Amino acid sequence: MKEIVSTKKILLKARKERYAVPAFNIHNLETIQVVVETAAEMKSPVILAGTPSTLKYAGADYIISIAKAAAKKYDIPIAIHLDHFENTQTIKSYLDLGFKSAMIDASHESFEKNIEIVKEVVEYAHRLGATVEAELGRLGGQEDDLVVDEKDTMYTNPESAREFVERTGIDSLAVAVGTAHGLYKGEPKLDFNRLKEIRALVNVPLVLHGASDVPDDLVKKAIELGICKVNVATDLKIPFASAVKKYFIEHPEASDPRQYMIPGKVAMKDVVIHKIKVCGSENRA
Ligand code: 13P
Repeated sequence: MKEIVSTKKILLKARKERYAVPAFNIHNLETIQVVVETAAEMKSPVILAGTPSTLKYAGADYIISIAKAAAKKYDIPIAIHLDHFENTQTIKSYLDLGFKSAMIDASHESFEKNIEIVKEVVEYAHRLGATVEAELGRLGGQEDDLVVDEKDTMYTNPESAREFVERTGIDSLAVAVGTAHGLYKGEPKLDFNRLKEIRALVNVPLVLHGASDVPDDLVKKAIELGICKVNVATDLKIPFASAVKKYFIEHPEASDPRQYMIPGKVAMKDVVIHKIKVCGSENRA
């Protein structure tokens, strides 16, 4: 594609054609390589997502440079997205650096405060041609430093979602319909009626956070009912780490990252293939 694309463009196409684009949480060169190489092989559009702690760990400048190199190298739409950012100043500084997509997560605030914060980011981002995602309702679980206790979770109210999207001018909406970040204690239950109602009232692409550890048929049904972006982190991290741990057990003398990272990458690749298939984004590039 030569350049990083905006998530808006790829999500609007997904909405129209009724599939979802996977957003994979990446952390470093290796995880980006796995995601973009696999997406390119499968001709799938793809979103690379970085949380605040990822950008702190790897450096925003390094991450965006790697994403730009990937966009030049592969002929598929590649977007890079700021995931779960709560600080408006940080988002603005990363948008200035060249990020073209951001989630401002003010879901812990009151409805009015959430709108006020999101609007500020939307105004700034749209001037730079960048896309904004925001969350209404509140997902439970843990995503890096973001921990939400079960008692603080809140489902998205469809009518409030309509008002929220209209008043903020956001480009996509993260909905809380029963998923949670991380692994589930029991079988996750998704409120499909709620999702249907939201889809009927809201005219921007809908985003499903916490898609790891959710049975495939539930994710597929959510996509049928209007989800256009599926966020995956935990399901990538666990197999990568397990494969590297196993490698070290089998090769206790190992010290070369070019060797011990490989099994992690191979294990992660299988998950990326599977998630692209579940999203239905194969051959949609
Ligand atoms: P999981 O870790 O549950 O896949 O959640 C990822 C996510 O929603 C990132 O925003």
